[in-house]
Amino acid sequence: MSYSIAIDGPAGAGKSTIAKKIAKKLNFIYVDTGAMYRAMALFMIQKQVDREAEELIGTICKEADITIVYENGEQQVILNGSNVTKLLRTEEAGKMASFVAKNKNVRKKLVDLQQKMAKTTDVIMDGRDIGTCVLPEADVKIYLTASSKERALRRYKELVEKGVTCDLDEIEKDIIARDEQDMNREVSPLKKAEDAILVDSSNMTIDEVVERIIDIFRKKM
Ligand code: C5P
Repeated sequence: MSYSIAIDGPAGAGKSTIAKKIAKKLNFIYVDTGAMYRAMALFMIQKQVDREAEELIGTICKEADITIVYENGEQQVILNGSNVTKLLRTEEAGKMASFVAKNKNVRKKLVDLQQKMAKTTDVIMDGRDIGTCVLPEADVKIYLTASSKERALRRYKELVEKGVTCDLDEIEKDIIARDEQDMNREVSPLKKAEDAILVDSSNMTIDEVVERIIDIFRKKM
């Protein structure tokens, strides 16, 4: 039997940083499902598909072969034979991902892959629909959030550290727009599963959130 922890929440809530740390501590595999939607977005960008071309996205997504491998414990995304992991964290890929993620064929394809991965290994998986859709039987479900101001500030600091010039208000506007799109789409919108535990990280450090979730997991086991 394998264990699973589902972490959902809006963009920039710190899901991936926290999930990675928990995975190391518990010796679980960390599955970043956002990276799969981003890889699908990259495929659409490469094919010059318009983000509003719903029908075309639903057809052409069948040509995108997305597989996941692990290198030194780090998730790598292979798109049609090429490792695209390093190309996925751009604002462009994130925005496009939020458009392609509305498509039901795209979701079916990626959810199947995610469910297969969780069948045989202990996983901590993060995304928007993990607790509600992908792993409804997860041992622990967390809905991780923080105020849009705090999330924007975190992203701003991350970009500044990388030497990218950016505008805090612009980042917050983008975050709010992405939340709206993810929460209001028809298929698997972002929402807290009824049995998920809400963790607001606005006033918590990363390590405090990690400890809190590990504690919740241990108490359940
Ligand atoms: O988490 P990340 O920012 O990498 O996700 C990019 C986009 O992919 C999200 O804004 C969302 O639209 C989509 N996504 C999703 N379901 C998931 C993971 C990501 O719809 N499980």
